[in-house]
Amino acid sequence: MILSDSLKNELQHAGKIVFFTGAGISAESGVSTFRGEGGIWNKFKPEELASFQAFMKNADMVWEWYQYRRKIVHDVVPNAAHLAITEFQKYYPSVVVVTQNIDNLHTRAGNKEVYELHGNIERNYCSACKKRYDFLEFKDNKVPRCECGGLIRPDVVWFGESLPPDELAAGEFAAEHCDVLFSVGTSSIVYPAAYIPLQTKKAGKYVVEVNLTETEQTRYFDELIKGKAGEVLPAILEEIKMFRKPLP
Ligand code: OAD
Repeated sequence: MILSDSLKNELQHAGKIVFFTGAGISAESGVSTFRGEGGIWNKFKPEELASFQAFMKNADMVWEWYQYRRKIVHDVVPNAAHLAITEFQKYYPSVVVVTQNIDNLHTRAGNKEVYELHGNIERNYCSACKKRYDFLEFKDNKVPRCECGGLIRPDVVWFGESLPPDELAAGEFAAEHCDVLFSVGTSSIVYPAAYIPLQTKKAGKYVVEVNLTETEQTRYFDELIKGKAGEVLPAILEEIKMFRKPLP
């Protein structure tokens, strides 16, 4: 049994569940995390690839890097963790995903309410006039230009940029009003996103971390379930099925 008595009790009575997710949830799909072994920021310097200054200095290089990452996320599929979250929707009236990931895998897995705090690599917009260029296939590795002449950039949050205010507000609201929050596959060190699970705790609700290791925030949470998200979340769901019926 994977559920502690207290978590089982919470999940028996809960109506609103939030999943706060980071790169670790997509690791089993084959998308690299940022930190730790094989992490993206061990190989590349964020300030050279993930900032507006870098884009202005060498737009083609930054664009090419995002094209490369876009191809990776296009070629992978949601894993057992993403799909388990989707199945939670059958058992709880409100299941909200608040993600730091830009890989679109939660939406592809069928989650209906997803707030993307750091943008989405499938979307783009003109850095000059803000016209949107979403879900287009750009074959070339050279940065494309908008009809206004401006450079088109990926719709992702770069270092030094603000989070999209509507997504952040919706994520904060969900975190403050849920019964149980799962913080899955995140190192919990990038703020303001990392405040989200702390807001749930502050509201007096139950927070569970699912991770391979302890993080900077583990000590604030009710419990840590150590393991791979793709194994832990399906195991939790299987136990839930023993005491909750699917919604009509
Ligand atoms: P990190 O790479 O910082 O952390 C990934 C976390 O996932 C680590 O704590 C791992 O232990 C854990 N992990 C790895 N594989 C796992 C698995 N199979 N199951 C469960 N846990 C696993 O990624 P994030 O916390 O998402 O920001 O990073 C936060 C932000 O930093 C990103 O959104 C990005 C980056 O710079 C921007 O791009 C703005």
